Amino acid sequence: MAATERVPPHAGPARTLLSGQKRVVSHPALRARAGAVVTAADAWDWLLALARGVQRPASGLALDAAHGWRAEGPVEPDALALLDLYLPLCALRGQRRSAYVIAHLGQSLDGRIATAGGASHYVTGPDNIRHLHRLRALFDAVVVGAGTVALDDPRLTVREVAGPNPVRVVIDARRRLDAARRVFTDGAAPSLLACASPLAGQAGPGGVGVIGVPPLGDGLCMRSLLQALAARGLKRVFVEGGGVTVSRFLEQGTLDRLQIAVAPMIIGSGRPAVTLPPIERLELSVRPRVRHVAMGADILFDCEFGG
Ligand SMILES: NC(=O)c1ccc[n+]([C@@H]2O[C@H](COP(=O)([O-])OP(=O)(O)OC[C@H]3O[C@@H](n4cnc5c(N)ncnc54)[C@H](OP(=O)(O)O)[C@@H]3O)[C@@H](O)[C@H]2O)c1
Repeated sequence: MAATERVPPHAGPARTLLSGQKRVVSHPALRARAGAVVTAADAWDWLLALARGVQRPASGLALDAAHGWRAEGPVEPDALALLDLYLPLCALRGQRRSAYVIAHLGQSLDGRIATAGGASHYVTGPDNIRHLHRLRALFDAVVVGAGTVALDDPRLTVREVAGPNPVRVVIDARRRLDAARRVFTDGAAPSLLACASPLAGQAGPGGVGVIGVPPLGDGLCMRSLLQALAARGLKRVFVEGGGVTVSRFLEQGTLDRLQIAVAPMIIGSGRPAVTLPPIERLELSVRPRVRHVAMGADILFDCEFGG
């Protein structure tokens, strides 16, 4: 980034804060960096640490009760963009007993996440794919449904940005997936399989851990799954898809945030993004607080639920 592009705001906007945050402030290491430019790498390093409950003032940034964050030196535009988008997803550890759950879907203008046959590479562009990798790095666990593993055989690791791999969690209620899937065999990160409780006695594919989940309606209870993950120290959970899985989390009221990236394309048929039981009146529709973020040619709708 050219030096002339640098802008000097030293504090982040309060609007990026979720309510109820009470935060720290000045630290000797921050003052020691006074005047030094905060780069995107500094900001990302700080966010990664924050997501894991660590303050890293050597990055030149600190949380601030009034503004969300503060720096003792100028902040590069790319660093500002990272702070604006990701700080609201990070500064929550230790303040919650329960899980913090975010889901993301990349959909076409007509609300499809893949063709009918399951081709989904790629609905959204490279900026959004990098965003997905950032989300993986910022969360303890990444959850996908059996349909995604069967069709995509994803790795679910962090490759586009610096950061740790999350624990991979596959919801395979009926144990229909074969053991050759990459999440079960590549050893790149720990994996867990979540299935209906009566099937939890069988060993996991590739020796991965198995979580038995009680039923809810015609599926499994996602709140119980989140409790089981929290008991393993996995309290920050990212649900990466597909549409059926994200819809189950949403329907059961377990999402704190839902991000939908809309790509400027019309698929016209195929696998839907969100599907919920029918409603009679629009007053019964879900109306979260929303902010929009441009991501290359795509627009990300960042929806926040709850108080
Ligand atoms: N564009 C994107 O953002 C994106 C992201 C991820 C995936 N995809 C694409 O989406 C497609 C797959 O999505 P999908 O919606 O068809 O399937 P999916 O959500 O990946 O998997 C759904 C299946 O997972 C199991 N499952 C998930 N939650 C459950 C619950 N609460 N209770 C019981 N079972 C549960 C069920 O397995 P059973 O059927 O065995 O009961 C369910 O049918 C693929 O084509 C993939 O490429 C797109």
